[in-house]
Amino acid sequence: MIDIINENLFHLTTSETSYVFTVGNNGELLHLYYGQKIDVSANGRNALIQKWSHGNACSVVSDDSRHMLCPDDEKWEMGFMGKGDLRSPAAEVIWKNGGTTAEFVFESYEIMDISEVCDAFKKASLPHSYDEEGGKGKALKITLKEKTECAKLILYYCVYDDCDVITRSSEIVNCGQATIKINNLASLQLDMDADVIKVTSFHGDWAREMEKCDVLLTGGKFVNESRGGNSSNHSNPFVMYAEPGATESAGEVYATNLVYSGNHRESAEFGGHAKCRILTGIDPDFLSWPLKKGESFLSPEGVLSFSDKGYRGISRNEHKFVREHIVRGEWKYKERPILLNSWEAAYFKISEGKLLKLAKEAADCGMELFVMDDGWFGKRDDDKSSLGDWYDNKEKLPNGIKGLSEKIKALGLMFGIWVEPEMVNADSDLYRTHPDWAVKDPDRDHAEGRDQMILDFSKREVREYIISQMSDVFERSNCDYVKWDMNRNFSDFFSQGGKAEDQGKLPHAYILGLYEVMEALTQKFPHILFEGCASGGNRFDLGILSYFPQIWASDDTDAVARCTIQNGYSYGYPQSTWSAHISASPNHQTLRRTPLATRFAVASMGVFGYELNLCDLPSEEIKEIKEEVEIYKKWRKILQFGDFYRLGGRVTQESFDRYSGGFLSARLDTTLTRNIIVSKDKSEAMGYIVNAEIHPNYSHTSFRTVGLDDEKLYHFCNREVKYDIRRMGDLVNMLSPIHIKQDGVLHNLVARFKKLDGETEDYVARGSLLNNAGVNLTQTFAGSGFGENTRLYADFEARMYEICEIREDPLEESADDQKK
Ligand code: GLA
Repeated sequence: MIDIINENLFHLTTSETSYVFTVGNNGELLHLYYGQKIDVSANGRNALIQKWSHGNACSVVSDDSRHMLCPDDEKWEMGFMGKGDLRSPAAEVIWKNGGTTAEFVFESYEIMDISEVCDAFKKASLPHSYDEEGGKGKALKITLKEKTECAKLILYYCVYDDCDVITRSSEIVNCGQATIKINNLASLQLDMDADVIKVTSFHGDWAREMEKCDVLLTGGKFVNESRGGNSSNHSNPFVMYAEPGATESAGEVYATNLVYSGNHRESAEFGGHAKCRILTGIDPDFLSWPLKKGESFLSPEGVLSFSDKGYRGISRNEHKFVREHIVRGEWKYKERPILLNSWEAAYFKISEGKLLKLAKEAADCGMELFVMDDGWFGKRDDDKSSLGDWYDNKEKLPNGIKGLSEKIKALGLMFGIWVEPEMVNADSDLYRTHPDWAVKDPDRDHAEGRDQMILDFSKREVREYIISQMSDVFERSNCDYVKWDMNRNFSDFFSQGGKAEDQGKLPHAYILGLYEVMEALTQKFPHILFEGCASGGNRFDLGILSYFPQIWASDDTDAVARCTIQNGYSYGYPQSTWSAHISASPNHQTLRRTPLATRFAVASMGVFGYELNLCDLPSEEIKEIKEEVEIYKKWRKILQFGDFYRLGGRVTQESFDRYSGGFLSARLDTTLTRNIIVSKDKSEAMGYIVNAEIHPNYSHTSFRTVGLDDEKLYHFCNREVKYDIRRMGDLVNMLSPIHIKQDGVLHNLVARFKKLDGETEDYVARGSLLNNAGVNLTQTFAGSGFGENTRLYADFEARMYEICEIREDPLEESADDQKK
């Protein structure tokens, strides 16, 4: 809801939050409050506004002495350069005379439908959030004018009541005669009263995305940014800011994100006055945008959320926002198919025969989609050539992608294909024909990454060519799924043939061009399920998710490492957006061996698939895979679209946070991963434990749920566990009547025919017990006591717990009552 009181107090409310700002006496736009919902009637403005009777010592004082204030000790909706606010500005414009001082004051406001703000984004080729068809949601547009009348600044606020999110964006319009230059325009600014703040951001690199990092900021400035041209695996744009004692389930937490896929910067900064400024937007180091008379520049959309229910509360808000207001199209809530991807099964060594064998196995196992990854086009036998040449490699595929696709579909599978449309190899017909289409400074040697260059998507002719090439590939292959990859960071930012003064536009212009191409192709092929990828999660952001409903979360398919990565994603992104595959053991990135059941547990928390050579697996593993596929299909809707909760590690995140003020927890949290996914109606849930490291004689673990209905009665049981006898090593002799030599012929033979039964967990309990006390699980094996009452719980073991409501028969109950 948007309330405007006395024409100068703006109160934006969502279901649980309030956002309040006002027009100051000199026309300044002053921020007053963002947090738990408040009532601002009865002259709340007077209570909230900062009082001034004198200037702060050496601070600059605003120029109207009747309405004095010190700009660096105020909370602003947007901070500017040159008039005494010494914190980083939200906007930096270079005027005709070279100066940067800016004074934007209130001019007007307008309440509009969110759909009208969407139109502004569409015009600018930017992705954006949206409200459901019909556009019930409301937005506020505030127009500020620069005192010299040469520019306007428009601020948009979209209010999403259902998920406690307010999105913001800013637009500068050049109203003067001369060209001006935008060097910085943040999407959102949030000034708040605080003298300490815990910042949580997510960092990493290839195969190590989304490592959660905490910093306690008491002064100075924290910066989270990406500079490689993508939203990056180094620093994801999703950041949380909390009171230091905030825990998983309690405490005030703010979060920001950005609907953008390029270089971004988030910062938290203390000036000298117990106020913290949070900014997010395009990284100003990569923005220099000349704006001619009459032109405007719109920032990407920034996303703001608040919860007083700790990190869990923020994750609930973010998940709902992404699902409801970012992901769109046919696949928004459509169950995603179980796929087999050829990459880790065969890498570049593919052929029609090999792929068909794999696909046949996949179909036999009950999988639904076969994806041919890299290596099918041009002369692509390794990563050194052919990107850009999107024609069939007839040596590998004599019948082309068309023939292969037909044969795959005849097996009853959908067909998917891999492309990397933004790239070109020097060794390609495309580059030989159009060397000027690569992002490349002709006066320098070009630095390559993975032997490839980036196509200059800021050029119309390049975009048109790629749209036509991709359309041809998608039509020719009649594909149902596309994996859209992007495998290098930017270097040598330069648009060949462009003017010197326009070169500063390229990093952003590239991203706008990319969005134009993605928009055209997703509109043209609405049935295709698109999956984003950038060497895994090098471009995992809300911009991509506005076109593609899911993204390959990481090239690291190791189940143990994935727990940390997926844990990181889970803070800001719902599990329906991150895909996860079962791959070979030993794993190809870490060489770690993990049981198939563990790989299933971990991959089934995300959008599930397989990526290994099924043809070489022993029959007992194929049998297990068939079971997994069955289980996943039965649970798929809940696993993909249910409510995902983190339950904390061995020393639970919760208790550790309480003692440590929220620090030192990440490591412990990931040695034991506990999660639960609960159906929307709370009638069913799947619980998970993954043990990364065994701690001997740590016998008892409980499984305490979150999100079940306190009143409902549930059946709690574990997925049946069977052990390979070889895992007991020579302890097998404790059970065997005859001596078995470890790893000897007999050991291997017994292992083929005899599996050991694992523990049974089987309980009936109320939701209140499960949510508050939790189930005390069977004791773990610690040197002795193996049997059905013992959990053999070595390194890398996992368990899945099915929790289903038992519908009580009201007639039976009343009969029981009568008997009493
Ligand atoms: C990237 C992707 C992988 C795979 C390869 C193919 O690394 O992340 O999943 O598609 O490219 O070259």
